[in-house]
Amino acid sequence: MIEIRLAGAGETAALVDCHLACWREAYRDHTSQAYLASVARGRSDRIAYWTTKIDNGTAPWLAVADGEVIGLAHAGPTEDADLSPGLELFMIYVRAAHWGTGVGHRLLEATIGDRPASLWVLAGNERAVTFYLRHGFRPDGAEKLHAGFRRPIIRMVRGSS
Ligand SMILES: CC(C)(COP(=O)(O)OP(=O)(O)OC[C@H]1O[C@@H](n2cnc3c(N)ncnc32)[C@H](O)[C@@H]1OP(=O)(O)O)[C@@H](O)C(=O)NCCC(=O)NCCS
Repeated sequence: MIEIRLAGAGETAALVDCHLACWREAYRDHTSQAYLASVARGRSDRIAYWTTKIDNGTAPWLAVADGEVIGLAHAGPTEDADLSPGLELFMIYVRAAHWGTGVGHRLLEATIGDRPASLWVLAGNERAVTFYLRHGFRPDGAEKLHAGFRRPIIRMVRGSS
């Protein structure tokens, strides 16, 4: 059974390891191994980041299967100056073995429900773009270069955000 719940203190290493594994699975065809390796070298900084977030009461949502973290999602106030203040989905990741089983849908429901929101996604990440389209997001024309990927990311919005 897959449980969707907020991350607790003491789960930061597990959630970061899941995040890094999801990156390797999702982006192996979209970026270089060197960039993925550089992201992985930031593991301890990421653990510190999420420890602070959880301590501050802004924990990410986790999908947990038999004690293993297999997905995560997080949202908060957007920092995009050209948008009205609103909600941004900062990340949603599911381990590849569980893609297409409804875990992403459940994480999205828990994190933002059906509220207006925005997000950024790598152009060409068709699985994610299709997932967001199915959940009511549409590209709003904003695009910028992602320094790490060296590829464009596009913004998608839902509702009034
Ligand atoms: C994008 C992502 C989060 C979507 O999560 P997911 O778990 O694969 O998505 P879901 O399973 O909820 O939905 C995908 C399909 O599974 C179907 N599905 C299968 N079983 C289901 C169930 N029990 N309940 C709901 N949907 C189910 C859905 O109908 C949907 O199909 P459809 O879009 O044809 O209708 C996931 O694929 C992922 O982590 N990708 C790699 C990381 C990534 O790119 N993240 C986004 C970064 S911006």
